[in-house]
Amino acid sequence: MTSPYAIAKPFLFRLPPETAHRIVHRLLETVQGTPIETVLARQYTVEDDRLACQAFGQRFPNPVGVAAGFDKNGEIPCALAALGFGFVEVGGVTAEPQAGNERPRMFRLPEDEGLINRMGLNNQGAKTVGPRLARKAVDVPIGVNVAKSEHVTPDDAPADYRRTYEAVADGGDFFVVNISCPNSQGFEELQNRGRMDAIIGELRDAGAAPLLVKLSPDLPEPAVADALEIVNEFELEGVVATNTSTERPASLGSPHRIEDGGLSGAPIESRSTELVGYVAQRTDAPVVGVGGVSTAEDAYRKIRAGASVVQLYTGLVYQGPAIAREINRGLLALLERDGFDSVADAVGADLQ
Ligand SMILES: Cc1cc2nc3c(=O)[nH]c(=O)nc-3n(C[C@H](O)[C@H](O)[C@H](O)COP(=O)(O)O)c2cc1C
Repeated sequence: MTSPYAIAKPFLFRLPPETAHRIVHRLLETVQGTPIETVLARQYTVEDDRLACQAFGQRFPNPVGVAAGFDKNGEIPCALAALGFGFVEVGGVTAEPQAGNERPRMFRLPEDEGLINRMGLNNQGAKTVGPRLARKAVDVPIGVNVAKSEHVTPDDAPADYRRTYEAVADGGDFFVVNISCPNSQGFEELQNRGRMDAIIGELRDAGAAPLLVKLSPDLPEPAVADALEIVNEFELEGVVATNTSTERPASLGSPHRIEDGGLSGAPIESRSTELVGYVAQRTDAPVVGVGGVSTAEDAYRKIRAGASVVQLYTGLVYQGPAIAREINRGLLALLERDGFDSVADAVGADLQ
């Protein structure tokens, strides 16, 4: 049977990507809290104890989450949970509202199953997003991605992150400090030891926990090693690997490969899985694997590489609303094939 998304996708793909995103977002907002949400949940949720995971103090009904950027303002976490996702990371959120970069700022690379975006952290600001999330009762863990405001210098970044965290503290079950956004001024300077130390120290001082740090796939090995020392020093509860990449693999075939911004989707899948493995080998903190997860096999590779749970954004654009269900069903088959009793059993199976 043809899926509804197979019918809708050609129409959506004729629209500019940001317009298509807005339509889908609006649709999900409309069904949220209505009986249709229950119908969706029944259709898309895979309930199976083997999929349930524990990490950084949370219980995830399944290991497939929505990555930051899809629901920047925390408007549709319940609708996304109804699509069968096991958790949702909202944001990136900044202290004040931001308009982001000029449009167009999001590009499809269909030949490569990728996206390039330079949104520039457009969001409604922590004082709007925090209380909105605090009012919502969501069935799955909610993470809030906390980012640096535009025009804040690296010296002022710790206080800025703190302000944002304090405004969203009541709205999230866990928090992700985003120091790896390639699309906003000043971020590249944050991923060095001294800066990270100051930012994470300030957030810990404010009581931020569980706190995870999100890394770029472009970090050279010594910088990742530095970041992991900080993870260990502050006993961070987790690491999110990875954000988008500013690199452009030679294999890219889409005309939009020349656009500036962060590349996501299939072209970064292997690099981000490699970083998941590198991180999992060097710290006991759980890893959230993200980058190019589109199928059960992709998710399983990240889990075997050491990811406790995975997230996706680009896969949702290309595969549509049934993606979490398809990945969860596929994971169950892969676990059975390889003789694992649960997802947790398979975490890190490929680590030496
Ligand atoms: C349009 C768009 C906006 C994003 N916005 C954010 C963001 O605000 N904060 C963040 O940490 N990551 C952001 N990301 C990165 C994703 O969370 C994810 O790390 C990355 O896209 C790799 O996953 P994927 O290949 O499944 O898309 C964004 C990605 C896209 C495509």
